[in-house]
Amino acid sequence: MAILPILEFPDPRLRTRAKPVQKVDGRISKLVDDMLETMYEAPGIGLAATQVNVHERVIVIDVTESKDAPHVFINPSLSLSGNILETEEGCLSVPGFYEPVTRHEFVRVDALDASGNAFSLEAEGLLSICIQHECDHLEGKLFVDYLSGLKRTRIKKKLVKLQKQSA
Ligand code: NI
Repeated sequence: MAILPILEFPDPRLRTRAKPVQKVDGRISKLVDDMLETMYEAPGIGLAATQVNVHERVIVIDVTESKDAPHVFINPSLSLSGNILETEEGCLSVPGFYEPVTRHEFVRVDALDASGNAFSLEAEGLLSICIQHECDHLEGKLFVDYLSGLKRTRIKKKLVKLQKQSA
């Protein structure tokens, strides 16, 4: 397994729309393992392949405190329902910033698991929000896109400054 570098906003590669995985093979298994290790090490509760510069439809999530319940979704498709809720979100690609974002309360996901088997899952709460957030990454979308232009510009300027300092 390997820790992969995580792209940070405003890196234009984060705007790439990911392609469907054609075959869940050894290459995808390795990607899933590396993504899980990268997510746990960060630490974070979710990671999309887009964030590690792989533009295929793979996301990993673990919202448990104990970090022992990983979810893997390959080629996920979502059905959203329920009320619209506002919660504070952060993102490993937008480090250090947390802002309120509105999401649907419930989600049903149809996807393939890490072995390539189809499954579906209904989620609510943090898992539902995290699934919606990670699937946005596969469309090239970030949580900062839901904020005002002014807020987004402010976050962008701060991150660019930090990225220059650490370069
Ligand atoms: Ni994110």
